[in-house]
Amino acid sequence: MRMYRPATKRWLTREERRYQTEVEGAMSEANQGTVVSVRGSVVDIRFERDLPAIYSLLRAGQDGRIAIEVLAQLDVRRVRGIALTPTQGLARGMTVENTGGPLQAPVGKGILSRMFDVFGNPIDRQGDVSDVEWRSVHHAPPPLAQRSTKSEVFETGIKVIDVLVPLERGGKAGLFGGAGVGKTVLLTEMIHNMIGHHEGVSLFCGIGERCREGEELYREMKEAGVLPNMVMVFGQMNELPGSRFRVGHAALTMAEYFRDDERRDVLLLIDNIFRFIQAGSEVSGLMGQMPSRLGYQPTMGTELSRLEERIANTNTGAITSIQAVYVPADDFTDPAAVHTFSHLSASIVLSRKRASEGLYPAIDPLQSSSKMATPGIVGERHYLLAQEIRRTLAQYAELKDLIAMLGLEQLSPEDRNVVARARRLERFLTQPFFTTEQFTGLQGKLVGREDALDGCERILRDEFKDVPEGTLYMIGPVDEAKVKAKSGKNAGKDSSQAESKNSTPKAGSAPGPKLDLKSTPEAERADNTHES
Ligand SMILES: Nc1ncnc2c1ncn2[C@@H]1O[C@H](COP(=O)(O)OP(=O)(O)OP(=O)(O)O)[C@@H](O)[C@H]1O
Ligand SMILES: [Mg+2]
Repeated sequence: MRMYRPATKRWLTREERRYQTEVEGAMSEANQGTVVSVRGSVVDIRFERDLPAIYSLLRAGQDGRIAIEVLAQLDVRRVRGIALTPTQGLARGMTVENTGGPLQAPVGKGILSRMFDVFGNPIDRQGDVSDVEWRSVHHAPPPLAQRSTKSEVFETGIKVIDVLVPLERGGKAGLFGGAGVGKTVLLTEMIHNMIGHHEGVSLFCGIGERCREGEELYREMKEAGVLPNMVMVFGQMNELPGSRFRVGHAALTMAEYFRDDERRDVLLLIDNIFRFIQAGSEVSGLMGQMPSRLGYQPTMGTELSRLEERIANTNTGAITSIQAVYVPADDFTDPAAVHTFSHLSASIVLSRKRASEGLYPAIDPLQSSSKMATPGIVGERHYLLAQEIRRTLAQYAELKDLIAMLGLEQLSPEDRNVVARARRLERFLTQPFFTTEQFTGLQGKLVGREDALDGCERILRDEFKDVPEGTLYMIGPVDEAKVKAKSGKNAGKDSSQAESKNSTPKAGSAPGPKLDLKSTPEAERADNTHES
């Protein structure tokens, strides 16, 4: 019987044919194993010949519905794997098939505007994907010689980020914060602001977060008309640890395809990288490894750097990544947060105190940092201004204790000026978001870097000394404050003076937009109680 080899487009020779028949025969036998034990999602499988390699994907059950990834070879006959799908219906003695390769992800033009799960199955009900190639999700990071080292600022249109923690094009930025301080909102806002003028491909990877957030994002992106250059991959909190652990790798495989094969820039957004670490810890626990500090897996550092190091820039393209990092119990010394910090070029820290004061985005400028904030990259003026803003805010933070004990009047006039400037800066650095329009009732604003710098500079030069500080809250460019002050909104008492008299401004005394009514006086009241 003649055999045709499609890859080389020629008929096989007799030797090749014999070899092929033998190998195929051996493979078909060796390809199958038997389930020895099932404990939750840990499955032991016995193979009579050719033990599957680590990371091999095994399939069992009807239509191979149950997927198992090999993580350990126990002895010459048995492997231990972790299930990536529910193991319901899996029983001892069942046949398991070795697919002969690791987990694969689809890559190619066909994946654009689609939404996938960890196996590369489309989950957007738009039918099968066509025009794709399948690649292993495991890859080595690009070698050092191929990496590029350009430093360019990536503007987000969010004042406090562009001024104080500029992001790097092709860099990794982290949004750190405890539960409910606005990580997802900030990430979605960044997608909204950047995706329009970002020429490359955007990739969103949801790891272990709420399923509804994935659906909402898909709908929003569809409405905004940006889906054609976007891909989404989800392994949300309803999935097994095995699949949450691999979904980041699947997303990166797609990102690498766009970078290396299509030579395009990629924007990779991950919500939430902590869930990746958590999934790794669950897998490690299930596999019976000894836990390390605070119960995390001993291999956390390795697992994280295997993923993070693949997010790299080469001469063909750049992967800019923004990752939300959940900080357990607001403890920034948690090993998961500490390990993640070390991979990032910009860390944006969200603080609960600011969120409770209504100062959104709740970024703490004194704790956040970026390696781009140097005169060589952002320019002398921007650098000096950022330094001065930080200094003013830091002085205010120090003075807070003094004000709490002695009151504002006891401060020197110089210090009182610092307080006034800092409070105005704090308010100016808040911003209404497009993605929160429905529940704040304020129209979203996009502010360019120059406008933001200009505003800060004018506040520092005391140009807004006599303008009530409430007018600077939730605005775009700084001139809006003057318009707001003129139109009589927020023309109530200036709260830094109110502060000194220990009076609590009434909510009604500051008419203005919905959020102003609620949040500004509340924020001021919070400060008053603290400082009186
Ligand atoms: N910029 C903002 N403007 C107004 N409200 C905001 C803003 N950011 C966050 N919030 C409020 O905080 C809530 C929680 O935000 P978000 O879901 O982004 O938190 P998270 O940090 O992602 O939380 P989790 O860790 O639970 O995922 C929002 O529902 C909203 O009410
Ligand atoms: Mg969130």
